Amino acid sequence: MRAYDIIYKKREGQKLTKDELEFLIKGYVEGDIPDYQMSAWAMAVYFQGMDAEETADLTMLMAESGDMIDLSPIKGIKVDKHSTGGVGDTTTLVLAPLAASAGIPVAKMSGRGLGHTGGTIDKLESIPNFNTSLSRDKFFDNVNQHGVSVMGQTGNLTPADKKLYALRDVTATVESIPLIASSIMSKKLAGGADAIVLDVKTGNGAFMKDFDSAKKLAEAMVAIGKNLGRNIAAYITDMNQPLGNAVGNALEVKEAIQTLKGQGPEDLTELCVELGAAMLQLAGEFEDLEKGKEVLRENLKNGKALAKFAEMIRAQGGNAEVVEDLSLLPTAADTVEVKAEKAGYISEIKALDVGLAAMILGAGRENKESKIDLAVGLELKKKKADRVEVGDALALLHYNESKNLEEAKAKLLSAFTITEAKTKKNKLLYEIIK
Ligand code: URA
Ligand code: CA
Repeated sequence: MRAYDIIYKKREGQKLTKDELEFLIKGYVEGDIPDYQMSAWAMAVYFQGMDAEETADLTMLMAESGDMIDLSPIKGIKVDKHSTGGVGDTTTLVLAPLAASAGIPVAKMSGRGLGHTGGTIDKLESIPNFNTSLSRDKFFDNVNQHGVSVMGQTGNLTPADKKLYALRDVTATVESIPLIASSIMSKKLAGGADAIVLDVKTGNGAFMKDFDSAKKLAEAMVAIGKNLGRNIAAYITDMNQPLGNAVGNALEVKEAIQTLKGQGPEDLTELCVELGAAMLQLAGEFEDLEKGKEVLRENLKNGKALAKFAEMIRAQGGNAEVVEDLSLLPTAADTVEVKAEKAGYISEIKALDVGLAAMILGAGRENKESKIDLAVGLELKKKKADRVEVGDALALLHYNESKNLEEAKAKLLSAFTITEAKTKKNKLLYEIIK
């Protein structure tokens, strides 16, 4: 077999066999196939696409290129949740204890990630003494005993995807549905879940800006899951403004705690209830989504979800008193309001610019080496469709250093569009693909 022939075949729009894909992926990971041939192949896929079978084959090959985690020491059906990413997405922090409070095991491995804020693991590390680097055995024990554990990713997961994604990033071949779908799904399969709930974001702050491409991606990922015998559902949800109000690490932990007390922002609460019910359904706990949602809403009110979070924190060595005393979390030295310069209704909040404002304050990493400040970030005081008067606070910035403060303020202000005409809120959940 020759890489040249495989590239040629895809360029001509033909279907590749599993053997051909295996030759390509193995050869690439082992360094026998150079970047330039892999780039040409990726560009051919970008233009010619891949069918469901090819996409599933590619996914499995990438999943098997590194460690495959075996979650079988954990009892029950393990459901993983994955979001395609947005701004201020605090869902995992809420959803892990919330779903566990309704009786399903939640074994979540999360990343740190580059972005406007840290990843779930960075956020959790703002809880004093919380340990995110557990051994596999300790992780399994914690889930079996307490129903939930969240730890940092370890091991060598999907090296083929790492290498290919980095290559696509510099060769204008990221935006291909089969390549994105196989990239995301290979990581989920290597993570060992029995069933998967996908939160596919659409909107100005999402990877997929428009609904149609989000739907195509959702359909492609669901097809891969089904092809490979996994229970799977994809929820297409709104990212036309940040989710919840907090953007920042410790600030999002605070918001998660408030949400687990039933006092969180409406959009974040609703999304967690929707995705949680999907997890309960796929785990076979509640077939009926409405019943699942009812139980989850109840657990946000009766303290069970919060108690589960405290239990998880304690089991990972952290100070569980934070759930009652938010002042135990890192706090920024100062805060300042960003005020509206005109009156009207908020018609748009560009989520990416809000994320950038938080990053300018130090909440995120610009590159792998940068250090993040867990205390800083921002809280939105107004959301889409709200009425504002001149001088009303749009957001409260939490900062430690004033050197980039003016830049952050300007970025935040530029994220808001205020119009005279009344505006409408977006729907939160657009469609469920199964
Ligand atoms: N996220 C991924 O993990 N992979 C892609 O290809 C695109 C987004
Ligand atoms: Ca948030």
